[in-house]
Order: sequence, then structure tokens, then C-alpha cells
Amino acid sequence: MIHPHGGKLVDCTVSGAEGERLAREAGRMPQIRLNQRELADLEMIAAGAMSPLEGYMGEADYRSVVDSMRLANGIVWSIPVALSAKTEEEKGLKPGSKVSLVDDAGRALAVMEVADRYEVDHDYEAQMVLRTTDEGHPGVQYLKSISPVYVGGKIQMIRRPEHRDFVAYRLAPKETRVLFAAKGWNRVAAFQTRNPIHRAHEYLQKCALEITDGLLIHPLVGETKADDIPAEVRMRCYEELMSKYYPRDRVVLSVFPAAMRYAGPREAIFHALVRKNYGCTHFIVGRDHAGVGDYYGTYDAHAIFGEFEPEELGVTPLFFDHAFYCKRCGNMATTKTCPHENEDHVFLSGTKVRQMLAEGALPPAEFTRPEVAGILAESARKDEPL
Ligand code: ADX
Repeated sequence: MIHPHGGKLVDCTVSGAEGERLAREAGRMPQIRLNQRELADLEMIAAGAMSPLEGYMGEADYRSVVDSMRLANGIVWSIPVALSAKTEEEKGLKPGSKVSLVDDAGRALAVMEVADRYEVDHDYEAQMVLRTTDEGHPGVQYLKSISPVYVGGKIQMIRRPEHRDFVAYRLAPKETRVLFAAKGWNRVAAFQTRNPIHRAHEYLQKCALEITDGLLIHPLVGETKADDIPAEVRMRCYEELMSKYYPRDRVVLSVFPAAMRYAGPREAIFHALVRKNYGCTHFIVGRDHAGVGDYYGTYDAHAIFGEFEPEELGVTPLFFDHAFYCKRCGNMATTKTCPHENEDHVFLSGTKVRQMLAEGALPPAEFTRPEVAGILAESARKDEPL
């Protein structure tokens, strides 16, 4: 089985008598209320999905990651995983103090020993990580919405965040690892998505399945921007596709709790490393991975992998060009495999699909499987946001 990033799968959960003692103590500590992104990060850190991180980043790691895509110890890491202080009391927390990290309902989920409190420049972070400071970018909007005072330190989880949705699909890294081992899979390709699976996605996945033992379809279900299709609608599409078009014994569907950062190339590296922690050896990177608008070039998320030695990443990227259905070939293809002109190719943008659905039209079967089109149409009729 592939080694976790940094060598060891982190586990920050504290249970039994020790957990109960810590939970009682947490009741007397100052609190930090986590926002949705921070909550998702907490869950992933605690379960080892963010190995080798054992908590929110301190200043040395943060600055090193922002400047050079490495933790202070040199291990590759491309995205800040930070906790913002929100109130004056939180901003005044001293290193060495213990805080309780609470969810929306005020439930204490974890305890953090504050190692660092530091102030950051959000414009600089945005420029370095997101490659823009434009306020139209959702990642920039997020940074503008939080305080520039960050606190970092190791966490101990005393209670797992509560989820009512996708419960059967919430597998932690140690669970996916056990599952892959039980299936006898050595080479496992991971697929990240925040969209319904259209024919282009399916093509990438099935190409990957031709050269690996198994596929992990790992849709992101954390916070996304308002006009992305909601996870519950997407999950109905995935389930339908799994049952009709995928070999059941070669595919695992599980959800990825992270929030979307829309950081394009840097998020592609992050997505790949984290999937390694889930036990995947390969990671699919297509066109404009984790992109938004036209902030990134179509293949920037491929190029960034060239900045690292393969053994520093440990997970193998599977790069795919822009895929489409070609009417002349009569199959899915890319310009690597199809000699025909653009007018023979069926490609629809997300905006175009939303527009068609709003007008009551179904996207063509060359673009999306009829079952998926049906679910999206039904959801548009019910006026669920698409
Ligand atoms: S993402 O934000 O999660 O990257 P999306 O769900 O659209 O967005 O894409 C999932 C994966 O499929 C990404 O690796 C993306 O690059 C790839 N992808 C999406 N559409 C295409 C396409 N038409 N051709 C090639 N790759 C694609």
C-alpha cells in the first residue's frame, strides 16, 4: 500500500477516558468557532487526510507553503491550511494556551494548543496561492471575508463533526486503505470532482481504469460556490451512473469532505497529495483542474507537477487533455486521438448546460448520460439551484 504523505498516517482522535477528560476541560477553555472550510479541514486533519499536518499551520509552515509550496521541513504542500481568529479574544490568544474548537451549534469538537499567532497579508497570499487578487475569484472573496490574524497549533479531536448526509459514503483514509487492500488493488486512480459526471469525466475515469486495478470516485462535498451544483443532486447522479455504467467491483464511490478553494494548479497538487493519503497511487488531472472562470490556463494544473520530483509527490498524476465526443469518430476523444475539426466535437460549458435545463431542454446524450440529464432536469424543475 502506498505510504501516506510524510510517511505516517496522522490520527488526532482522542477517545475513551482521555477523550472524556479532554472534553470536560474543553468546556472551560476559550473557544474558536470554525467556519465551514475550517470545519472540513479539521475533520480531514484529524482523520489523517492531510497527513503530515497535525493541526492548523503555524507561521513557519504557512510562509514556507505560500512562498515555496513546501512545509518548513521541506515536504511538498501547496495550500495553506489555516485557522483565522475571529473575535478580539481569539486574536489575543497567547502561544501555549489551549482553545476549544467549536462547530456552528457550539459543540466542542477538538482542542488546539496554540503554538503560534501571526498576521498575514491576504493580498500576498491570494497572489501567490490563487495567482490573482481579483475579487471576482471565490478564493479571494473567502480571504477578504476572514481576519488576517491566524492561529496555529496541533489539534486533538474529541468528537467527530456530525453529518446527516452521505453517511454511508464518508470513508476516512484508514477505511479506504483497508477497503483497497481487501479488494487486492495495488494501483488505484482517484478522481476529484465538484460536478455531475458527464461523458468527458467518464472517459477520463475509464481510461484510468484500463491501466489501474481500481478507481476511487471522490466527489468533493464541502463548501462550493453558490452556482456549483449541490452535492445532494450530484450524488444522485453518481449513484445512478455507478449502477448503470460502471463495473461495480472496480469502483468505489466515497465523498471528500473538503471545501473547494478554486486554486487551480496549487489545488491540483493538494488534491493529489490528499488522495495519496486515502491510499490512491494515481490521480486524474484533466483540463483546468479546480479552476474557475478564466483565471488559469487550460493545462496550468498539469505544468505545476513538473516543479517537483516524482518521488517528492509519491502519487502519479494522470494527465488528460480536453475530452469531447466526436461525431465523426463516434466516440469520446481528445485532440491527441481525434483528427477532426471543432465543429464535429460536442462540447457544452456548465453555463450552457444550466441554461438548457432552465429552458426545459435536456443536454444531448453525447454530452451527458440520459439518466444524469434526467436528474439534473428534475432538480431544475423543482427549482433546486443548479
Ligand atoms: S474540479 O474543480 O473538481 O476540477 P470538475 O468536476 O469539472 O472540476 O472536474 C473534475 C476533473 O475532470 C478535473 O480533473 C478536471 O480537470 C477534469 N475535466 C473536467 N471536464 C473535462 C473535459 N471536458 N476534458 C478533460 N478533463 C476534464
